Amino acid sequence: MIGQMEHAERLLLYTTVHEVKPKLALECGTWQGMGSTLFISQAIWENRADGVKGTLHSFELDADLIENAFKAYSASFQELIHDSVVKFHDTDFLGAILNDDYKGATFCLLDGPDDSAFTFKCFNRMKELMSTGSVLILHDWNSQKCEIVRSLANPDNGWEIVQILDTKTGMCKLVRI
Ligand SMILES: C[S@@+](CC[C@H](N)C(=O)[O-])C[C@H]1O[C@@H](n2cnc3c(N)ncnc32)[C@H](O)[C@@H]1O
Repeated sequence: MIGQMEHAERLLLYTTVHEVKPKLALECGTWQGMGSTLFISQAIWENRADGVKGTLHSFELDADLIENAFKAYSASFQELIHDSVVKFHDTDFLGAILNDDYKGATFCLLDGPDDSAFTFKCFNRMKELMSTGSVLILHDWNSQKCEIVRSLANPDNGWEIVQILDTKTGMCKLVRI
């Protein structure tokens, strides 16, 4: 398994997607697609047995990485591509979510660049796009990437922290209230 997350972090993504059963899910930071993306996609695929047909839109700025991910899925996980369980985008995540195409997403993972201002802008925009009960997960919660949003993840700003994983870089699960 190629990816940049610890097992406990991938497990949290997988169990949360089973819990939320999103029809529309978003991910910032595909990298090679074999870490977080695969765990989220697998859970969305399994949710189909419960009658929920969801799609993950996974965004990656590096066109070579996203092409490799697409090729790997086409070779090994064709059903996830053919049934639109996952759609890969070689696009800036923030630019993509600024229009309203992704309004109503009920699950989102932020695992993009090491840039606290970027994470802050995504965090604010997801608040506008997500309704009550939706889940936002931030990877690298303990790092500089999340230093602005750490102080804003509270009910006054429309979010409740439901879980923090004490992994090496940390992961935080927030619910929109
Ligand atoms: C930490 S890695 C993601 C790891 C992946 N989630 C995993 O589990 O293996 C962060 C990724 O975000 C990508 N990235 C950086 N800026 C981005 C942007 N503006 N929009 C989308 N992806 C971006 C980087 O190219 C990099 O591949």
